[in-house]
Order: sequence, then C-alpha cells, then structure tokens
Amino acid sequence: MSITKEAILKALSYVEEPDLGQDLVTLNMIENIEIDGLTVSFTVVLTTPACPLKQLIHDACERAIHTMVEKDANVVIQMTSRVTSMRNNRDVLPGVKNIIAIASGKGGVGKSTVTANLAVALAASGAKVGLVDADISGPSMPVMFGVEDAQPHVFQGPNGKNLIQPIEKYGVKLMSIGFLAPAEAAIVWRGPMASSALKQFITEVDWGELDYLLLDLPPGTSDIHLTLVQTVPVTGAVIVTTPQKVALADAQKGLQMFRQPQINVPVLGVVENMAWFTPAELPDSKYYIFGEGGGQRLATQHDLPLLGQLPLVQSIRENGDQGQPAVLDPGSAVGQAFAELAETIARQISIRNNRAPKTQVVQMNS
Ligand SMILES: Nc1ncnc2c1ncn2[C@@H]1O[C@H](COP(=O)(O)OP(=O)(O)OP(=O)(O)O)[C@@H](O)[C@H]1O
Ligand SMILES: [Mg+2]
Repeated sequence: MSITKEAILKALSYVEEPDLGQDLVTLNMIENIEIDGLTVSFTVVLTTPACPLKQLIHDACERAIHTMVEKDANVVIQMTSRVTSMRNNRDVLPGVKNIIAIASGKGGVGKSTVTANLAVALAASGAKVGLVDADISGPSMPVMFGVEDAQPHVFQGPNGKNLIQPIEKYGVKLMSIGFLAPAEAAIVWRGPMASSALKQFITEVDWGELDYLLLDLPPGTSDIHLTLVQTVPVTGAVIVTTPQKVALADAQKGLQMFRQPQINVPVLGVVENMAWFTPAELPDSKYYIFGEGGGQRLATQHDLPLLGQLPLVQSIRENGDQGQPAVLDPGSAVGQAFAELAETIARQISIRNNRAPKTQVVQMNS
C-alpha cells in the first residue's frame, strides 16, 4: 500500500496540541509533507520557539504515522515555530505580534529584573524580542543591559519620518527613556503632551518584525499607566509581586487597572519574585522572609495562573547591577528559573492567541 499525504494528514489530525486543546491539522501546524518510498517527512510549526512540549508532540506524531499509516515508515520531523498574534488593528506598531506589559503596583518588587531576564530568555529561545523601558522616574534597562552610555542613532525612515534605531544587546532590541536627555524626557512625560510623547517614544522606533515587545512599566497605577495602555495596543499584562501583604495589595490594584472595561487588557498571570531567600552558601535552603504563598493566593483569587516563582538571591541583584541578566547563565538554578518563566509566559500568550478568534466569533453572533 502506498503512503499518501491524505493518510498522513488524517493520522496527524489525531495528534493534539495539549496546551491549545486542538489537533495539529486544525491548528495549521503541519507543513511541507513529503513522501519518498517509506520515508515520510514534514514540518511541525509550533507557536512558541521554546515550546516545552516539543518532544512530546514530536513523539506523538511519529506514533500516529506508525500506527495509522505505515508501521515501517521512516518518519523525519522538523520542528520549527511561528509565534502567533491576536492583534487585528495594526495601525500602531504593525510589525509587532505581541505587546506585553510588565506591571506591579508596588515599586521595587523586581519588574525590571523580571522583564530584562524574560527578554533575554525569549531571545535566546529564538524569538524576535524588543523591550521598552518606560520608567521615567528610574529607567533601569541601560544598567541592567550594561549599555549606560549608548546613544541610539536617529535616521530618516522610508516615509521621510525620523526613526530611532534601538540599541541591541543579548539579542534584544532595547529602547529606554534613559537614553534620552533626562530633563527633556521629564518635561514631556509630566506635561500635557505625555500621551503623544509616549506614543512617539514607543512607535517611532525601528523595531522591524517582533514576536514580543515587552514594556517595563513604572511602579504604581498612575495616569502614565492609563495613558500607556490606552496609547499602545497592549495584548497582555504580567503582574509581578513579592509575597508580602503590602505588595499583594498594590499588585491587586495593578491587576484591576488592566481589567477595567475601558482598558480590558488580558492579564496573563502573576510572577512571584523574592518568593524565598536562598543564601549562596546554603543553596538548598529556603527562607520565606516575605511570607509564603502570597503569589499563589493572588493568582487563585483572580483566577489566573501563577507563572513562576523566583528566589531572592544575591546574584540576581549583582547580575542586574553588572549589566549581565542572570538568565545568561543557563547552568545556574536562577538562570534555569528565568528560562522556565519565559517558556511559561510564551505558552500563555500562545494559549491566549488561540482562544482569541473564538471570542470574536461569539461577539459577531451576539
Ligand atoms: N529575585 C531577586 N533577588 C535579588 N535581588 C533582586 C531580585 N529581584 C530584584 N532584585 C533587586 O531588587 C532591586 C529592585 O528590582 P527592580 O529594579 O527589578 O524592581 P522594579 O519593580 O523594577 O522597581 P521600580 O518599581 O523602581 O521600577 C534591584 O536592585 C534588583 O537587582
Ligand atoms: Mg523598574
């Protein structure tokens, strides 16, 4: 019996993408099917580059071909990825698939540290990543990326408009308010021009094509935040908190800001930073100095996933100050924790994007 493309597609239609709850054929994840005698080859296009389910999906495809098409087939599967997007209106930042805001409510809980590491980890996994440091009171990205003296180049874009060339470091395209003259920035950000200045600061940058653009927000839930999320089409928000009561209360305010009807930005989940303290000399010890389980409680209360927990360790602070995000050391426990967090967040974005069209259908019918 000869092997056919139809038989292959039929078999693969029984393989489910566990996160998305649909089969690979319905999700258009199968491409380039080729048959050469007993050799069957095809490409599986995943929705995140660092998909933790890669091996599982690969093995399930192989099994499906062997059981439903040809038990002696030589199955060659190439696994690639194409990050999805649920953006419809691309007037602003047309080349950007997903715009993710990282917010907290309370200051100093580690938003910028998480954002920097997340950006570097996503880029390392193969995604195209940009990062906007929108913190006027204390831009931290120039230090965290070790590019304090960088001066972004301004050039004339194709339509005659000036464009800013972002600074590139560790595979991430970076734009910080800290690269601009501080006095000048303060005036435009505080004045009535805040909204247009913000928009300009983020949109008049030559980002090119991006899978993820991360926005590191300033602390609080001020007008700046409202302006920002109304100006830039944020597709999802991540809330960072420490387990401490005061931080959780502020994180809740941050979370509610995104969920206001006029803002309506989906919150992807909660990251608990400084979840426990681990001294360098006692790497297996956990001291819950800010209390235990706060991040999980906040997440549960708002029906959100706890995206990850990060320990309070001296090296995270040192790495930040030295301009070398901790995730650059994938062998370390902390590097591993940040890499896993990036995988989880990418996964949540992909799940979100897959659900989006269904929501639209419901809206159209109502
Ligand atoms: N898990 C951690 N372990 C150790 N130090 C940390 C950790 N997370 C953050 N820090 C340190 O805590 C300080 C505050 O972190 P960071 O600047 O990331 O917080 P933030 O929420 O962005 O603050 P702000 O509200 O001022 O923007 C920094 O010095 C950072 O290096
Ligand atoms: Mg910050």
